[in-house]
Amino acid sequence: MQLRAEQIMRSPRTAQLLRSAAGHEVVYGTTGSGKTHWVKQLLADDEANGREVWVIDPIGGTSLPEWRDRAARFAKGVEEAPALLAPLAAPVQRDATLRPATLTIECANWVLDDSLCRALVEQVLSEARGRDIRVRLIVNTLNLTSFGGSLTIRTSVLGNAQAVA
Ligand SMILES: Nc1ncnc2c1ncn2[C@@H]1O[C@H](COP(=O)(O)OP(=O)(O)O)[C@@H](O)[C@H]1O
Ligand SMILES: [Mg+2]
Repeated sequence: MQLRAEQIMRSPRTAQLLRSAAGHEVVYGTTGSGKTHWVKQLLADDEANGREVWVIDPIGGTSLPEWRDRAARFAKGVEEAPALLAPLAAPVQRDATLRPATLTIECANWVLDDSLCRALVEQVLSEARGRDIRVRLIVNTLNLTSFGGSLTIRTSVLGNAQAVA
């Protein structure tokens, strides 16, 4: 019998407890395993927890269409991704009051294959230390190629690898 994600991590609370201090994470599994289904629940949790939801859904925004209007920011293609990433990658203003945010990148291998997007995500991870930004990547495998060859990005999320199988 195949175990679906929510049977492994029964409640949002369990999933929350499994997250590391930095809170970055990667959801991985083969096509059709239920990654997108699971990520939709994580996005709803983020929203319920008062986090700002930022989404890059690079295949025309077709995977997470309900978040097109529901997310604070939504990019429906790799070409739209740099404009979304730039403000998250920018250094924090000392007097700024920023809400906690979660950046979810669906089909992250597509986005991270782009060198500009890859560099910006690396910068987001670096800036995330100064504010509460969590990065969530969705990939098919944990191979370095899924992260555009970036060890920095892979290492940042590997502590919270959620297998969907
Ligand atoms: N926990 C689940 N319960 C019922 N159906 C599910 C569950 N997870 C996935 N599915 C269904 O299985 C199919 C593939 O899931 P999807 O999330 O699109 O997989 P992936 O994103 O990994 O390719 C979809 O039709 C989805 O609705
Ligand atoms: Mg999917």
